[in-house]
Amino acid sequence: MQFDASLDYDLDKPIPTTATGLRQGLTSYGDPHFSLFLRKVFIKALGYTDDTLSRPIVGIVNTYSSFNPCHANIPQLIDAVKRGVQSSGGLAIDFPTISIHESFASPTSMLLRNLMSMDTEETIQAQPVDAVVLIGGCDKTTPAQLMGGISANKPIVHLVTGPMMPGSHKGVRIGACTDCRNNWANFRAGTIDVEDISAINDELAPTGGTCGVMGTASTMACILAALGMMPLNGATAPAVSSARLRVAEATGKIAVQASSTRLTPQQILSRESFLNAITVLQAIGGSTNAVVHLMAIIGRHPDVAGTITLDTFNEIGRGTPLLVDLKPSGENYMTDFHNSGGMVALLHELKPLLYLDAKTVSGRTLGEELATAPYVRVPRLSPTNCLHALDSPLYPASSLVVLRGNLCPNGAIMKASASKDRRLLRHKGRAVVFANSADLAARIDSSDLKVDADSILVLQSIGPVGNPGMPESGLIPIPRKLSEHGVQDMLRLSDGRMSGTAGGTIGLHISPESSDPDSVLGIVEDGDIIECNIDQGALELHVADADIKKRIEVRKNTSGAIGKAAQLRTRGYRGLYMRSVNQAHEGADFDFLTAGGPTADSRA
Ligand code: FES
Repeated sequence: MQFDASLDYDLDKPIPTTATGLRQGLTSYGDPHFSLFLRKVFIKALGYTDDTLSRPIVGIVNTYSSFNPCHANIPQLIDAVKRGVQSSGGLAIDFPTISIHESFASPTSMLLRNLMSMDTEETIQAQPVDAVVLIGGCDKTTPAQLMGGISANKPIVHLVTGPMMPGSHKGVRIGACTDCRNNWANFRAGTIDVEDISAINDELAPTGGTCGVMGTASTMACILAALGMMPLNGATAPAVSSARLRVAEATGKIAVQASSTRLTPQQILSRESFLNAITVLQAIGGSTNAVVHLMAIIGRHPDVAGTITLDTFNEIGRGTPLLVDLKPSGENYMTDFHNSGGMVALLHELKPLLYLDAKTVSGRTLGEELATAPYVRVPRLSPTNCLHALDSPLYPASSLVVLRGNLCPNGAIMKASASKDRRLLRHKGRAVVFANSADLAARIDSSDLKVDADSILVLQSIGPVGNPGMPESGLIPIPRKLSEHGVQDMLRLSDGRMSGTAGGTIGLHISPESSDPDSVLGIVEDGDIIECNIDQGALELHVADADIKKRIEVRKNTSGAIGKAAQLRTRGYRGLYMRSVNQAHEGADFDFLTAGGPTADSRA
């Protein structure tokens, strides 16, 4: 039936505040009918009819950027989503938000994650959309979109760009970005030459798409499926595959359904959804970054914030084995995980550990979704199978561990499954301290550096405030004089982050960070004894309490910590970041965006 456009001109009938489609969220001109009239004037410049404009509007968030190869396929994905929307009776309208790529954001992509979440929230809120497809992929984009989506609280469905294919060098498969780091370390150690490293550079990212290992992008894609915020088969299909386009078309159809069920992320997501996500995070040996992102996402949800802490990750980890054999914890690539059944197979395998009543974006529960997606187990010895059964895991439990102790009273994170020298998971040694990234760069390869294989490398001042954006410098390089003698792993500690694609025995996200005036990390000195014990979840500085107190007082009177004055002097977004960011254990979100922050809506 044709839509009767004359209804929009009936001045005796107020436009209801519950209006949908083009009639919702009108621009303020003081006369709502005129606002609608004007809106239709402008959108008709694009050739739409009144009939088409009467349909439910599905917004498609376009994060394409020529600086973002991880999002290279977004134009094709948008076309496929539009097919799905239009074949289901909706009107698809795409619009841009910020795009962030790991290697093209200085000083670090994480600085922009909260900005992208604000961009996502505000554009969803401001524009007349009944549901939104959020297309993201590269590390910070998907968490930013879910943070913003939860806060905007209109119906959303996620679509990721998908992983890239692996490349090959001299008959060995390679892929971004675990092999970027391994090969660079080999080049530093002199075990491969300049011709090899140059040829490898050509092959590490042979197609568009997100990093092809279990880095942060892949981890967050798996988490979105576990949370029920996208189709279960939506996490692993390669970026360049036809399967990825079919996922996109299906996502468009789901978004039209969501526009009529009106199920919002705050209604779909529950504490149980997030417990499922943490179970999946442990079972895939996911990125340490995902812990920060999940805490930020949880912190946006008014009913879940505060019910899950870092200790929840440990509790779930103790009962969850590592099942997916992917780099950096294992040997394979995301395409292998996809060919092993991907998230459908993993979730079936994890069923005894999951809350199957958790809701999903389709309106069905996770259990109901799994019932419609049967699990065909690929034979264990098949070359493409990288999924272990629950009773024969790759690593028994706790792939990600939360550490506590006087060095990190609010916690630190370690990816134990990615340790290259498991002896270091229970280790006591002398600290070699670097005051910041510049100090590290200046001295790490110095022949004078007093360091041996048992030393513990400590890097200060790369936390959320100390180095805004908390850079991924936590993978402190092995001093060249040791790597040349075959040392491949050392215990390394910092208040910063590390790429999810990296491996080693690395303690990260130490909270409070060293630039906090009361931080214990900030007063560690060369030669101090530090002890890490993964079994006890402990990270301790063996310095007497009285001496720690004395050092903290001395430091407060010098320039060690970043004071409020420095934060107030810093202009623009960076200044806002320094003044408003919370600590890593809270997700490094802005205090004014969390569910526990200010509640008055500035749009009201
Ligand atoms: Fe984009 Fe790795 S750089 S996912």
